[in-house]
Amino acid sequence: MNQPPTLQLRHLLGLETLDAQQITALLDLAGQMKAVNQRRIKKLPTLRGVTVLTFFVENSTRTKMSFELAAKRLSADVMGFAASTSSLSKGETLLDTARNLEAMAPDIVVIRHSSSGAPHFLAERIGCGIVNAGDGAHEHPTQGLLDIFTMREKLGTLQGKKVAIIGDLAHSRVARSNLHGLHKLGADVHVAGPATMIPPGIEELMCTAHTRVEPAIEGADVVMMLRIQRERQGNDLIPHAHEYHRFFGLDQQRLKLAKPGALVMHPGPMNRGVEIAPEVADGAQSVILQQVENGVAVRMAVLYAVAVTRGLEEKP
Ligand code: NCD
Repeated sequence: MNQPPTLQLRHLLGLETLDAQQITALLDLAGQMKAVNQRRIKKLPTLRGVTVLTFFVENSTRTKMSFELAAKRLSADVMGFAASTSSLSKGETLLDTARNLEAMAPDIVVIRHSSSGAPHFLAERIGCGIVNAGDGAHEHPTQGLLDIFTMREKLGTLQGKKVAIIGDLAHSRVARSNLHGLHKLGADVHVAGPATMIPPGIEELMCTAHTRVEPAIEGADVVMMLRIQRERQGNDLIPHAHEYHRFFGLDQQRLKLAKPGALVMHPGPMNRGVEIAPEVADGAQSVILQQVENGVAVRMAVLYAVAVTRGLEEKP
């Protein structure tokens, strides 16, 4: 495995603070990890003796499993922790829980939390490497990286490619991480959704915002659909799921506006028939399951980079 010397990564808190060179180095490293995942024995000895703790205070299927799989494929010891079965539900503060976890000396903590900034809070207070697996509506950097990895794999480059991101932008940490990363790699990003789901000032993240989906999808190389984050919305911001689908959902007809063969993406979990029609989700242009496959390689690259930066990897 070749870690570029420029890639210093003590933590991965977001894509906002990475530059194009660091993002590209992580994607290249993920490419090497993907090759490992395609071997019969999908395992490297590199992180032997490194302890990775997954600390998930919000539910997750894909992200938690793929971080655990990634850690195991690098031979790290991995332990999972879920909020619902922990003392967080007995009123312990995040800092107290974290200090107790730290006392058990993990090397890297992968954290998902409903509060924006929780991983940054921990990174300033405890000594281990922190990897953000989604913090509130703020960032989800490994999802952003795996999305960008998938686009780069299929399109060759992001430079000048039109990427449409559609749905609940106000509450999407996936969109925010993608916006930071895609802009740095030269993509032309368009976002669209109901006016109530487009945060004011989103153009500062270097994208073009639309309140109709058609101009965003027209001529796009990639169409990424987002779930409506009902758990983060104070009030229902849309009248009805059927109506949402009619105006903002991706069906075969709307997909025809994009470039022929444009990629259809979704971070999951999907609400079929709401933001995406089942025939599009399962159609020939969908790379949704390839995103999941690439997620393991990307998380291996991130864990590896953090471990190497901290001098934790096994030296030959
Ligand atoms: C996303 C998340 O949790 O932010 N899912 C994921 O990690 N693949 C998106 C979502 O919940 O809609």
